[in-house]
Amino acid sequence: MMAILVQTDLFHLQTDHSSYLFHVMANGELGQLYYGAKLHAQAAYPELTQSEPHGATPAWKLDTPNFQPGSEKQEYGSFGKGDFRDPAYQVLAPDGSRISELVYRDYRIIAGKQRLTDLPSTFDDTHDDAETLVVTLQDAVSQLVVELAYTVFPHQDVIVRSSRFVNQGDQPVVLNRALSADLDLPDADYDLLQFSGSWARERHLVRTPLRSGIQSVGSLRGASSHQQNPGIILARPQTNEDQGTAYGFNLVYSGNFLDQVEVDHLRTTRVLLGINPTEFGWYLAPDQDFQTPEAILSYTDGGLNQLSQQMGQCYQQHLVNPRFAQQPRPVLINNWEGTYFDFDETKLLAIAQQAHDLGVELFVLDDGWFGKRNDDTTSLGDWDVNLAKLPQGLDHLSQQVHGLGMQFGLWFEPEMISLASHLYDQHPDWLVRTPGRQATPSRNQFVLDMANPAVVDFLFTKIDGIIKAAQLDYIKWDMNRNITEAFTPTLPANRQLEFMHRYMLGVYQLYARLTQAHPQVLFESCASGGGRFDLGMMAYAPQAWTSDDTDAIERLRIQYGTSYAYPQAMMGAHVSAVPNDQTGRITPLSTRAAVAYFGDLGYELDVTQCSAEEKAQIKEQITFYQQHRELFQQGTFYRIDNPFTGDRNVGSWIVVSADQRHAVAARYQILNEPNPAYSRLKLRGLLADQRYLVSGREQPLYGDELMHAGLFIPQQLQSTMGVEQSADFSAQLLVIDAVDGQL
Ligand code: GLA
Repeated sequence: MMAILVQTDLFHLQTDHSSYLFHVMANGELGQLYYGAKLHAQAAYPELTQSEPHGATPAWKLDTPNFQPGSEKQEYGSFGKGDFRDPAYQVLAPDGSRISELVYRDYRIIAGKQRLTDLPSTFDDTHDDAETLVVTLQDAVSQLVVELAYTVFPHQDVIVRSSRFVNQGDQPVVLNRALSADLDLPDADYDLLQFSGSWARERHLVRTPLRSGIQSVGSLRGASSHQQNPGIILARPQTNEDQGTAYGFNLVYSGNFLDQVEVDHLRTTRVLLGINPTEFGWYLAPDQDFQTPEAILSYTDGGLNQLSQQMGQCYQQHLVNPRFAQQPRPVLINNWEGTYFDFDETKLLAIAQQAHDLGVELFVLDDGWFGKRNDDTTSLGDWDVNLAKLPQGLDHLSQQVHGLGMQFGLWFEPEMISLASHLYDQHPDWLVRTPGRQATPSRNQFVLDMANPAVVDFLFTKIDGIIKAAQLDYIKWDMNRNITEAFTPTLPANRQLEFMHRYMLGVYQLYARLTQAHPQVLFESCASGGGRFDLGMMAYAPQAWTSDDTDAIERLRIQYGTSYAYPQAMMGAHVSAVPNDQTGRITPLSTRAAVAYFGDLGYELDVTQCSAEEKAQIKEQITFYQQHRELFQQGTFYRIDNPFTGDRNVGSWIVVSADQRHAVAARYQILNEPNPAYSRLKLRGLLADQRYLVSGREQPLYGDELMHAGLFIPQQLQSTMGVEQSADFSAQLLVIDAVDGQL
């Protein structure tokens, strides 16, 4: 199958269900023509290339009054010569000028998809019919070359874009802005769906109609951030989970980003995605090149569930480390909320032993195992075991845990440094600060200069040694503060604006070196919970700690919001003790598990303190999860009831197996209502003509009935937990299995 069709000056990228068209315009630059439902391949599209002159708008030349760059949809918009929208790139020449004309030169088509060298990127190891188009553009004055790359993943309806700048001139230039993608759409009748929040309440859905002017989400924190996420969606106002048109966008990047949507005076919509131009600049000497991160674009007319599913499929097949993509993720216990900094080997082993008896497969030792780390004021950077707590060393602890038949995992926060550390005594210049200015603390800690190759080497040697000595199976890589006073002594003055991006390149390099040297180690990324929950991290760390908030009700919202842009196999989800440490809320153990099942299940509490009844319940939960693990981690995920809409009181979702014969659904009732209305749960993703048995029901039901008429949900709940507990925060879990033949 040909995914990329080229006719003279017309490029047509086809996926199974979408078409993406652009062409060479009269001025030699590229113009966007169409992105939407699949079109027949044609030699020309005269209806798409029509234009008319608009008033008070510059034309390209005196004798081309009809061709006005500012009235055209651009493919990689430039600034300063008639298009007044925010541009996709901007180049500063040595004479101070900022005009460039990226004129079409040639193209090439490459089978499959090559990985980028220094950045996380998509790939096509399975030869899944992917094709890559590289279009070369050149500015005749500066000899700057820009290569726009488009990879078509036809079966996931995804197009991956990036740009590469090559200075083929003999003068240096500076890139003031170098975004990954620009998509100009012909109208503005869309809602913007963004996933916004804060620490402990990440990725809440916010849906607003587009308005005239610029609206954007972004980060200047040196991380993709808790506050905004690079994943966004444009959907028609009437689009819902099950039907309607939507475009999904994301970035394979973990640093400062900008997702900007501009509605102009002609009601066209320009979507820009890439490294945030604020705090960015790149000095490009002759013969040097600059590669942008990759942007993900996806189109569907099948609703938001379909959009999330096809993008998630693309990541699972073409972004996540193939070794882990389909591999069952272990049920883990993490000691953080159970012990915080207060532990010793005896306590840890008691937890590990008890957890093992309950069925847990991986023991993770969190913060506090190194240096003199008894609170968060000290020792980051000193990655040597704290012998006061673990006198027999990490290796011994690891052997004991392995001896139980469990895997052993360890927490690191590689990118950080405490003032009270040997590392700081030895390398004060490795701490990120601006000379002559104070260094701003956050959580009592400071950031290491990951743009300095010596720092990356040091961390690699240290962590590599511990992985080998302690036989680690898993690493939780945390990152608990954002970057302030950005500066590096390793770069000259005219390259200081490169720091934020070079920092990320250093992080990626460390990840790449560690994952290559230790391919068996499962990495989980973390940044005070979900502060770096993005596709850049996903390329190295197949799972991520979704949020520091383990309260089941908050987690329902966080996981629901996160599911729009990320598959559930990426979401670390733990059951913790009550009252919850973040919200003080008391929810039933069954509800905590019923939320955490829909991700990579873990427990984060001192199981030795649990009652016999609780232990029995946890054991049952783990057995249940293990039975349905593939479904929970890899099944097709459908959102049903949205806890961000209406009275925000109900949430529900379902995971369905690839053959559509098995499913688990859950419905969460946040607060109970007196004398409530009737409620039905309409399932998704089943086979209409198949009969299913639903747990708790005696009569098999057809898929059509389950999906269209729905299951009756009893509302008259009584507290089953005793007089002192509430029946609020309940969850109903439904297991749905196909049944054949006569019963
Ligand atoms: C961050 C993480 C937590 C835990 C602590 C340890 O907050 O998100 O899960 O690891 O750091 O200090």
